[in-house]
Amino acid sequence: MVLIATKSESVLAPVILIDSRRMENIAGELARCEYTLSNCAKRLGVFPRLGVNFWPALRRKWVPEKGDRVDTLLELFIDGNDVPVDRLKRHVSAAFVDAILETRLAEKDGAILRSKLCLFPCYGKYIVTDQACKNTAINQVMWLWGESFILGGLVKRVPRRRVIDLGTGSGVHAILASDHCESAVCLDINPRALEFARFNAALNGKRNIEFVLSDLFNSIDGTCDLLLANPPYLPDGGAQAGDNFWSGGIEGTNLLRRIVHDLPLRLERGGTAHIIALYPLPAATSLKSHFRVWLDGALDQYEVLDHTWPVPHYQDLLSEKPFEGDKSAWRFGVVSLRRTQSGAGWWKDAGGGGMFFREDGSCWVVADHDEF
Ligand SMILES: C[S@@+](CC[C@H](N)C(=O)[O-])C[C@H]1O[C@@H](n2cnc3c(N)ncnc32)[C@H](O)[C@@H]1O
Repeated sequence: MVLIATKSESVLAPVILIDSRRMENIAGELARCEYTLSNCAKRLGVFPRLGVNFWPALRRKWVPEKGDRVDTLLELFIDGNDVPVDRLKRHVSAAFVDAILETRLAEKDGAILRSKLCLFPCYGKYIVTDQACKNTAINQVMWLWGESFILGGLVKRVPRRRVIDLGTGSGVHAILASDHCESAVCLDINPRALEFARFNAALNGKRNIEFVLSDLFNSIDGTCDLLLANPPYLPDGGAQAGDNFWSGGIEGTNLLRRIVHDLPLRLERGGTAHIIALYPLPAATSLKSHFRVWLDGALDQYEVLDHTWPVPHYQDLLSEKPFEGDKSAWRFGVVSLRRTQSGAGWWKDAGGGGMFFREDGSCWVVADHDEF
């Protein structure tokens, strides 16, 4: 698979919703085929590497078995390989094949099926995204990287009133949270992302999610008691913050700082926010000092679990003009903040060190403020 598609490549058609019963049947057949996180992890090595499937160096050497149903689905929906229709039909119903063609999850070329999208198993859900290779001809909907799996696995799954998934992309975090939240909001500035989020919600039979086109919080009202955010964060001299799924503006922190700044307005007391990002800090500065500034002095109102780790050699493979200066203070990971009732907050290093996954691809770190 190539990393970069050229501008001349035709614009990819997005997914098409069909009736809800048939949407849910697609997910049902994937589950029946045992197309699961742990089965994919077994084949490809640590699962988050699925998110960077175009880097063969980061993946266990894997030769698909033609008779294996999980391998067949991985070839079609992760690697973008040609799969003969007859081979897929050995494992799924004709109705499944019709449904993936109608929804545009796959295209048929004679006796061959191919997909220009990715379809990931993710903690019991199925998530469709754009194909896992950079394509600047469209405003791509981000495929699931390791960070999507870290954030998805790290959330403590307790009942909540309202979750906001800020920069939702495929909708993955809202869809996972909609199981334990009364209502969920998928919010993104990219209309294509909301089409995918809507599609994925239907695929997973979700009915308590709304979809809002918005520049961060600007087009929604109200507060939430769970905020999940994986904003664009790369310092990119060649794009504005939010132009695509990776650029966080020239310093990388343009969106981050706006999100953190708005926490006092949007996160209820007792509520929790998880923000996964690269934190491209200037040399000799600390994450805590930046949060103090971004929160306008309100940092003491929050109990903070710092699940980040140093990444002084971070390699930016997406930006047009990647940052070339001192990265010695850069960190990556999740900052989890709980807004206190009392105003007596704290900041704790919650460890993790980047080792978030078990061999089966599940996440062993859960951000639990009550444990600290
Ligand atoms: C890094 S992707 C995260 C996708 C998904 N949440 C995940 O974790 O897999 C960032 C998302 O933020 C969206 N975004 C960028 N700027 C935004 C803005 N100003 N307001 C809302 N969403 C924005 C992008 O369109 C993209 O879908």
